[in-house]
Amino acid sequence: ADHPVHDEPLRGRRVVVTAGGTREALDPVRFLGNRSSGRQGIALARAARQAGADVHLILGTLETEPPASDEGISLEHIESAQQLGAAVAEASAECDMLIMAAAVADFRPLTVGESKIKKTDDGQDPTITLTRNPDILAETVAARSRTGKGPTVIVGFAAETGDAEHDPVDLAGQKLQRKGCDLLVLNQVGTDLVFGREDTEVHILASQQSQQVLGAEPLTVAGSKTRAAQAVVAQASRLL
Ligand code: CTP
Ligand code: CA
Repeated sequence: ADHPVHDEPLRGRRVVVTAGGTREALDPVRFLGNRSSGRQGIALARAARQAGADVHLILGTLETEPPASDEGISLEHIESAQQLGAAVAEASAECDMLIMAAAVADFRPLTVGESKIKKTDDGQDPTITLTRNPDILAETVAARSRTGKGPTVIVGFAAETGDAEHDPVDLAGQKLQRKGCDLLVLNQVGTDLVFGREDTEVHILASQQSQQVLGAEPLTVAGSKTRAAQAVVAQASRLL
């Protein structure tokens, strides 16, 4: 109560954060997954809470501890990309800011075995057919344009390595345009950079419209995931 207002730019605001990976079922006992630790998303949820927001954190698979119950962050657990999509659709209807830090599987097995898949002795190696998952970020942006409702600020993430011809920041700029979100946070990934580590370097890119408030130059933040998260929340808050 004694804090000056500028310490809590998100007071009275509702922020939804997604974190961790998704699991795409093959059968009742097996899944396809990814190595997202969930640390960046959890750091973002904490940064938003610290900024005074009412925070709802939607968690997939983690390789770290979720926030404790006394941190004042409401938690929801999901498993698949489709479940995450439904949870985001519901939560983002009534929020000011959506931060999509989750590592969403691009594909899922087309069919899910009702019982455990058994090996056969016919000499045939099994083939798993995959199908595309919905793009939750792009769909949330599209729903907002269609209805005029939804999060005022939508933040996407990208992990890019780049290659001989493509600079990761350029790739992220293209992804930002494709997705239509307001901010895109680029994690530059390479061998054993970022994944599961505490330290990180991020570039925060603004859409054309956001650039009117934030300027055209991407903001680069090096240091802990906590610091990166605070910078992302600060930039996003300026767009509200
Ligand atoms: N994302 C999403 N739904 C998906 C895939 C990704 O909402 N089915 C979100 C992620 O949470 C992230 C952003 O989109 O905020 C970018 O994810 P990324 O995997 O980098 O983008 P893709 O469009 O899937 O491109 P790529 O082919 O490079 O994986
Ligand atoms: Ca992807």
